[in-house]
Amino acid sequence: MRIEEHPILSFERGRKVHFYFNGKKLYGYENESIAAALVANGITQLSKSLKYNRPRGFFCGIGKCASCRMRVNGVPNVRICIENVREGLEVETQEPLAELPSREFDDKGIDTLECDVLVIGGGPAGLCASLEAAKSDADVIVVDENFKLGGQLLKQTHKFFGSKHEMAGKRGIDIAKELEKEIIENNRIRVFLKSSVFGYYESDHGHLFGMAQRLDDMSEKVYKVKCKSAVIASGASENFLVFPNNDLPGVYGAGGVQTLVNVYGVLPGKKVLMVGSGNVGLIVSYQLLQAGMEVKAVVEALPKIGGYFVHAAKLRRFGVPIYVSHTVKEVYGEDKVEGATIVEIDKNWREIPGTEKRIDCDVVCLAVGLSPSVRVVSLTGADIRYIPEAGGYVAIHDDCMETTKRGIFVAGDLSGIEEASIAMLEGKLAGLYSAKRAGKDVNEDKADEYRKRLEELRAGPFGERGRIAKEKIRRLWKECH
Ligand SMILES: Cc1cc2nc3c(=O)[nH]c(=O)nc-3n(C[C@H](O)[C@H](O)[C@H](O)COP(=O)(O)OP(=O)(O)OC[C@H]3O[C@@H](n4cnc5c(N)ncnc54)[C@H](O)[C@@H]3O)c2cc1C
Ligand code: FES
Repeated sequence: MRIEEHPILSFERGRKVHFYFNGKKLYGYENESIAAALVANGITQLSKSLKYNRPRGFFCGIGKCASCRMRVNGVPNVRICIENVREGLEVETQEPLAELPSREFDDKGIDTLECDVLVIGGGPAGLCASLEAAKSDADVIVVDENFKLGGQLLKQTHKFFGSKHEMAGKRGIDIAKELEKEIIENNRIRVFLKSSVFGYYESDHGHLFGMAQRLDDMSEKVYKVKCKSAVIASGASENFLVFPNNDLPGVYGAGGVQTLVNVYGVLPGKKVLMVGSGNVGLIVSYQLLQAGMEVKAVVEALPKIGGYFVHAAKLRRFGVPIYVSHTVKEVYGEDKVEGATIVEIDKNWREIPGTEKRIDCDVVCLAVGLSPSVRVVSLTGADIRYIPEAGGYVAIHDDCMETTKRGIFVAGDLSGIEEASIAMLEGKLAGLYSAKRAGKDVNEDKADEYRKRLEELRAGPFGERGRIAKEKIRRLWKECH
């Protein structure tokens, strides 16, 4: 179902277009992903599991979980949550083990692109890194898998906290627009959308990455990208939780639902159970209420609410119950979510028999943390370690954001899960020092200022986890050198 009226958002959906789903003619809008257009048409089963053929739906909405893979114009395994819908597209469900394309693709050859700094990821960290490197006279290429720039900012409709330098008081969506405008106007920066970096190769003249760009006819153009240094800002993916039927269509990542509702104005259902009361769970719950959904309850395994008081208070005002020391026991339904059972847990996280409650819902959102997306950085040979406070595996880096692989920098959620203002500052630091590695003169006074602001942002109780993560990372860095 599409949202027609929203208290703060107006959806720029663009032109109406027709496409085919398993031969049936449907309509969508040119600024929507194929996945959003299907959900708007009531289609929630997108693929099947490999072994047991169980139905699978949309989960992450940002190209990270592969539960939405379909055949598009004959090409299998297209992640339809990061592919825009277009006039005449033929979209089909595929067998779990997809066959190769039935038609031969034109061999478009492999071209080589050269730049000073390659930036992988066009979220707040990558966009700030690109701008900072370009301001130091570096030629920059920025690459993103999605068909829009902005990363997770695109779905953040709430006003940011933090410092005015990192645009506090503005909504994430507006910050994304401002950064995108600056990027487009900067003639030192080239942007490649719908482009995935898939490989890293040793090179005598710096670094060499492999990149594939999806073209509108669904063929791919492959590039070698030669750069003097690179900033990897590939973000994070949402964590999953183990319970019976956790794979039913209708169990979504909270960020995935936020993308559907806030970016595309599409409602995935009517009644939601939110699992997790960190800031993501609380903020997304409030945004779903704003969009017209009913939030039946928020459950939190810890004995206290994880996110900011102000966000929890907004939910309480709407009468949403927040059950602490509770978890989701199971979800039930045939081909989609038809309800869930929650249960109280003791201090050893064991279920307390007799405390089960049935929740009448058609959507279950998991807001149980994020894990850094280390796939690309791990290809470079940078030292990767498990740091629980950083959210999982991260590349060890110094306070210039350089990894143990000289010339390879990280920034944002990939370097440790924190928040967007921190991602922007880390992006600026990485942009500055990647330009320096590329032989540019940079103003290091700026770097000291960025470090100072990072310290301020991490000073409060909500910055504690990030602070500990960075201390551990820096200790490991020293041990490596
Ligand atoms: C639901 C939710 C709510 C949040 N609320 C807040 C908030 O209120 N305030 C706040 O400050 N922060 C918030 N955050 C956190 C904030 O969004 C993140 O910290 C920030 O977006 C991280 O920025 P990033 O640039 O590191 O990653 P992202 O914004 O995730 O961007 C990464 C980009 O990299 C691209 N990419 C990944 N792999 C590849 C590849 N191989 N090739 C090419 N491109 C690739 C992706 O498509 C993506 O666009 C929230 C996050 C979520 C999920
Ligand atoms: S990859 Fe499309 S929903 Fe996760």
